[in-house]
Amino acid sequence: MVEPLKTKPWLSPLIHLSNNPISLVGMVFITTAVVAWLFVLPVEIREGASRPYLGILFFVILPLTFFLGLALVPLGIYLRKRSEVIRQIYPAEFPPISWENPDFRRLVKFLSVATIINVIVGGYYTHATVTYMDSSGFCGVTCHVMKPEYTAYLDSPHVRVPCVECHVGPGAQAQLRSKMSGVRQLVGMFTGNYPRPIPTPLKDLRPARDTCEQCHWPQKFGGYRLNVIDKFAEDEQNTPAKTVLIMRIGGGSMTTGIHGFHMKPGVVIEYRATKDRQVIPWVRYTEPNGRSTEYFTEDWDPTKADQFEYRVMDCLDCHTRPSHRFLLPHDAVDRALALNQIDRTLPWAKKKSLEILQADYRTTTEAEQKIPQAFVEFYRKQYPDLYQKRRADIERSAQALLAIFKRNVFPEMNVKWGTYPDHIGHMDFPGCFRCHDDAHKSKDGRAIRQDCNACHELLAVEETNPEILARLGIHE
Ligand code: HEC
Ligand code: HEC
Ligand code: HEC
Ligand code: HEC
Ligand code: HEC
Repeated sequence: MVEPLKTKPWLSPLIHLSNNPISLVGMVFITTAVVAWLFVLPVEIREGASRPYLGILFFVILPLTFFLGLALVPLGIYLRKRSEVIRQIYPAEFPPISWENPDFRRLVKFLSVATIINVIVGGYYTHATVTYMDSSGFCGVTCHVMKPEYTAYLDSPHVRVPCVECHVGPGAQAQLRSKMSGVRQLVGMFTGNYPRPIPTPLKDLRPARDTCEQCHWPQKFGGYRLNVIDKFAEDEQNTPAKTVLIMRIGGGSMTTGIHGFHMKPGVVIEYRATKDRQVIPWVRYTEPNGRSTEYFTEDWDPTKADQFEYRVMDCLDCHTRPSHRFLLPHDAVDRALALNQIDRTLPWAKKKSLEILQADYRTTTEAEQKIPQAFVEFYRKQYPDLYQKRRADIERSAQALLAIFKRNVFPEMNVKWGTYPDHIGHMDFPGCFRCHDDAHKSKDGRAIRQDCNACHELLAVEETNPEILARLGIHE
């Protein structure tokens, strides 16, 4: 016969009592947390710096699971003891701890099986979770807070660039900071305590040198680019027109053009702005030869300079929305008409679309119900014959209209038409004209110019058949 283990007298009752569902679940939590933590540990040590959200798993979720398990075990023991005492089945004495003791046997088997499963499943699962937590999908889908940005991102030239490339960038310090804010964001999400919409400009974004310029650099791209923009009138025929311009992007070997003037090596542009960066009363332009000029508006008061944010201009002062561009209704509808997603042969399609898009919808669900319905109803009532003949086209267009709404407006996050300004032009937001308004003057009377042909050459503005396109051999 095997000698029973010499054990403390309280251990046998404890083992008896811990054979209850609540304590067993607690033990599963504990083993899972420990096993998963051991799996994540090497990743956290090796790559934690480049994985901002891993900290949430490592420092928050796993420890919480562990302590939850730790609390469940004694709770189960306490409840079981109470129930056995009440039912008067609490044993007077306990068998010693040995393989003959059925309570002990069951517990050891249970823990062994749970641990083996944890190692097998946990190893794979932790790896998958770790990978997922730093993907763009995690940022965009799990944090529903970022749905507007994720939706726009999926439809952007940067869809293959992970969020963290722009939002974190390389360098240990940045990554530590981002890890802290990752944890803070998560807490905010659970408590529902986050701003809607997320306010911009983002103050803690890395300088473009550390993000954008890892992939793009101003010497590399540029030249002239022909832009042809489709427009449609708000009349019965949705009369089409085109705006044609050549952008003087510059850069490359050219030190002129838009990039050349702001970004060529040696140029420094400093400015002071209001909090939202929409009003810029003071600018200093330093040329590569060291000569600098201050430009300021008439009401600029140098003694109040400190009330304005100071910034050195970089890519992000023009490219505010490289990855999250939200369109305004007229642009979005023009694009959909040009691509015939909204059928442009439907009478009043443009005008009606704008009207419907700009109505007030409190939730996305409400928009899903009302937008397609309003569009279809219009034709059913006003053009019954047309409705009979072209029902499929009308319904397809109605869905395209809803798609525009869902791509650009997010009522749940208070992201409406025009919530986020885009600084790349000057038509919808002040953009370039925050400085280029002929009103920022130097002491000797020179101005930051608004000359219509300084940034682009306007070749045609909303013309029906621009002659220039025919000459360039561009036909529909
Ligand atoms: C190409 C670079 C780039 C990528 C990739 C990128 N972002 Fe951004 N993001 C920016 C810039 C620049 C801003 C700052 C806009 C401003 O300050 O006006 C920004 C702003 C934001 C904001 C603040 C709200 C807003 O719309 O301005 C959120 C939230 C955000 N990004 C989330 C994400 C998420 C989630 C992803 C990945 C799905 C992502 N970003 C990918 C560059 C990027
Ligand atoms: C990890 C690499 C990477 C980073 C970082 C990056 N980009 Fe890009 N960007 C690209 C690629 C690749 C393309 C080209 C996509 C294409 O041609 O379809 C692109 C395209 C662009 C375009 C042209 C879009 C168009 O409509 O033609 C602009 C503008 C741009 N990026 C600006 C930025 C800015 C501003 C930042 C910093 C906030 C940035 N990028 C960060 C890789 C990157
Ligand atoms: C003064 C404003 C301004 C600054 C600063 C600026 N850009 Fe641009 N960039 C533009 C404009 C305007 C365009 C043309 C957009 C258009 O045609 O719609 C452009 C175009 C681009 C393109 C597309 C080029 C092509 O050939 O199609 C890329 C890429 C780009 N910028 C990246 C950058 C990067 C990276 C930086 C920072 C080093 C930067 N830009 C700084 C205004 C600026
Ligand atoms: C923060 C202020 C500021 C903003 C915003 C700004 N610029 Fe400029 N820009 C300047 C300054 C300063 C100069 C140099 C003026 C000088 O000394 O001649 C300049 C010069 C230029 C020039 C060449 C000068 C000329 O008149 O021929 C072009 C082209 C240009 N900018 C395009 C743009 C475009 C396009 C945008 C918007 C996407 C933009 N800028 C936004 C400050 C700004
Ligand atoms: C400081 C640079 C700058 C100056 C000065 C400037 N523009 Fe522009 N403009 C731009 C940029 C950048 C875009 C492209 C915006 C985009 O890509 O969305 C643009 C776009 C346009 C467009 C096409 C936009 C559309 O969607 O229809 C028109 C039209 C236009 N500008 C007219 C003018 C006129 C008229 C003037 C003179 C009062 C002028 N611009 C002066 C930078 C400038």
